Amino acid sequence: MEEFKYGDIKLSGSILNVNPLEVHSKIIEADGLLDYIHIDVMDGLFVPNRTNGIKMFKDNIRLENKPFDVHLMVEDPLRELSNYIGASIITFHIETLINSKTMQLDMDQFYDISREIKRMGAKVGIAIKPNTTVSFLRNLLNKVDLVLVMTVEPGFGGQKLIESTLNKIEKVREMGFEGMLEVDGGITPENALSVIQKGANVIVAGTSLFGADDVYDAAWTIKQK
Ligand code: DX5
Ligand code: ZN
Repeated sequence: MEEFKYGDIKLSGSILNVNPLEVHSKIIEADGLLDYIHIDVMDGLFVPNRTNGIKMFKDNIRLENKPFDVHLMVEDPLRELSNYIGASIITFHIETLINSKTMQLDMDQFYDISREIKRMGAKVGIAIKPNTTVSFLRNLLNKVDLVLVMTVEPGFGGQKLIESTLNKIEKVREMGFEGMLEVDGGITPENALSVIQKGANVIVAGTSLFGADDVYDAAWTIKQK
C-alpha cells in the first residue's frame, strides 16, 4: 500500500443513482472499504435537480453503522440542517455565501451555519463548484474540517470528471490546508490516483463504485490499496 502525504484515503460512496432496494447489499459488497455514505441533497434551485435527501438519509442511517457524509446542494443550508442530525460530516456550498453584488463572502452566514453543524456534532465541510475561484476559500480554510472540490458541475451523478478542476485540489493544498480534502464527481478506479496525487484524501464515488461488476474491487482500486 502506498503512503500518501495527507494520510489514508477515505472512500465515500454516493448512493444517488443506486436503486433504493439495492443500497444495503451494495454497501455490504464494498465491505470494510467504504468509510462514509455520501448523501446528495438537491433542492431544484441551487442545482437543476431535486433529491429526497431526507428519505435517503432516514432510510439508510442505521445501515451497517456507516458514518454519513451529507452534501447540501441547496440555496438555504441553515433551513435544511435539522433533517440531518446524526451525520458525521455536513458540507454546504461556498456559492451560497457569496453576495452577488459585492462579490464578498457573508461571514455572518458562514458562522451561523458552521456553528449549527458543530452543535449537531458533525464536521463542517465547504464545497466549491468548478467555476468558482479558490481564492474565496482563503478566509475559511482555518474554520472548516473539510473542503469539497467538485470535479463535475453539481446536479447529477454519472458525469465525466472535468480535468480543469484538478488544479483546484493542488491550489487548496498550496494555500496550506491540511485537513480532509474531498473530491466529488466522475471519479473512477482509473482516475482516482491522479486526484490523490494532487492532494485529495476523501474520494466520493457513485457510478464507478456501485455500478461496477465487482464493487469491492472498484473500492480497493480507488483507495490505492
Ligand atoms: C453530483 C453529486 C455527486 C455524484 C457523484 O452533483 O454531488 O455526489 O452523485 O456520482 P458519480 O460518482 O457518479 O459522479
Ligand atoms: Zn455529492
